[in-house]
Amino acid sequence: MESPLFAIRSALIFSVFALIISSTSALSASSPQELQIVNAERRIDLTSHIVRVFLTLKVENTGTSPASEILLAFPPTQVEHLALAKAAVAVGKRKKKSYTPLTVKSSELPDAPNGAKFFSVSLLNQLNAGETVTLEILYMLTHLLEPFPEEISQSESQLVYFRDSAIILSPYHIKEQTTFIKTPSTKVESYTVVEPTNRASTDLKYGQYNDRAPYSYSPIIIHFENNHPFAVVEELLREVEISHWGSIQITEHYKLVHAGARHKGVFSRVEYQSRPSISGVSSFKHLLARLPPRVHSVYYRDGIGNISTSHLRIDSKKSELEIEPRYPLFGGWKSTFVIGYGLPLQDFVFEAPDGSRYLNFSFGCPILETVVDKLTIKVVLPEGSKDPNAVVPFAVDQHMETKYSYLDVVGRPVVVLEKNNVVPDHNTPFQVYYKFHPVFMLAEPLMLITAFFLLFGTCVAYLHIDLSIQKS
Ligand SMILES: *[C@@H]1O[C@H](CO)[C@@H](O)[C@H](O)[C@H]1NC(C)=O
Ligand SMILES: *[C@@H]1O[C@H](CO)[C@@H](O)[C@H](O)[C@H]1NC(C)=O
Repeated sequence: MESPLFAIRSALIFSVFALIISSTSALSASSPQELQIVNAERRIDLTSHIVRVFLTLKVENTGTSPASEILLAFPPTQVEHLALAKAAVAVGKRKKKSYTPLTVKSSELPDAPNGAKFFSVSLLNQLNAGETVTLEILYMLTHLLEPFPEEISQSESQLVYFRDSAIILSPYHIKEQTTFIKTPSTKVESYTVVEPTNRASTDLKYGQYNDRAPYSYSPIIIHFENNHPFAVVEELLREVEISHWGSIQITEHYKLVHAGARHKGVFSRVEYQSRPSISGVSSFKHLLARLPPRVHSVYYRDGIGNISTSHLRIDSKKSELEIEPRYPLFGGWKSTFVIGYGLPLQDFVFEAPDGSRYLNFSFGCPILETVVDKLTIKVVLPEGSKDPNAVVPFAVDQHMETKYSYLDVVGRPVVVLEKNNVVPDHNTPFQVYYKFHPVFMLAEPLMLITAFFLLFGTCVAYLHIDLSIQKS
């Protein structure tokens, strides 16, 4: 007679428990309903192969409790292509407007309807009931434009698909919204119409749409011409070697691919050279690398040897290296090469207030407008350096290695930083702090001197020892 009662009781306890859990989750998820977007403007730039989205959101707290974060929702098809997202809040009035950066991070919240993923923007000051705040958000998507047709011949122009929603995906109610899409040329094959939709020259306008419920979604496809160089570095290894004898040596190994529509048929160099305006319009033969000022000993080589068709322009602010692979790159073609250069030590290695030293160098890829699928930066510190510590403004994988080169005894500590899906906006300074005692600088010369004296001593001894067996 006990067991049914027991079952009822445990069921009761369980349901009370479930109630508590659901009410807490409702509590933490209740904030989305308490906020609303008064006005949203989205500008999508499709002129390159990296999709850049600028979003301005005017958010109002319509609830009764203050809010400290604002959620952004991304469809699952975009999350995997998201390379970077940053947000800022505008402070001050029109003319004296300045922006304070905010942190954007992947949210712990369970996925939204249809697998949408949340990112949260943490506000500096809480948004009290009845207040509004204007956020500026920028995010970048890579490998999102899909070439169609997938294969083109030398004389064809490249067409791509872009997919998104005419209505901004959001966990909040949006009162007014408009989306502007910029295409690289006026050649737009087709686009989805979600009334009102207008097209003028290279601009497409979706909206204004009023009063859209949370998670509203209206898929659109735009099929348009994009002959921008789809330069993707599948793997980039940058080695930064610090020598306290006055220079930093950089060696960069590139595995470059044209990630656009694959080339089909044979390549005719005659046609390519005689009709450059219509032949191979989506191919590229030059790339521009922006290097720091005061670079020296620049080289550019591939498996065959040095490539002399590169031009270096140096001015006081920057150096530009124009590189030209041995053949133009068409869709699907690859090129592997190495760029090397030297930089003055005093421009990049400094002393911190606590006496340790640090390297301040640029992360990312020096070649303009490229996507790097996998970037590895190795900072080779001088022999004898201690306690290395890297400071990078975004999440990277880190580990340590040891490198041996000539005359090294204990080896050089190497800080290895790795990041996938790198875009030009990742070209921001990062630092590697380390401790170094100047006496280590004397280690190598002392070793050389000792070795020289040992050799000298051996020679002298050899000349003075009588090794003859005959007695004179
Ligand atoms: C390639 O260029 C570098 C730097 O200019 C030079 O040191 C090297 O000897 C050259 N190699 C060949 C094979 O020409
Ligand atoms: C690193 O260099 C950049 C300029 O290239 C500078 O703005 C920044 O303040 C430097 N950071 C440190 C910690 O020295």
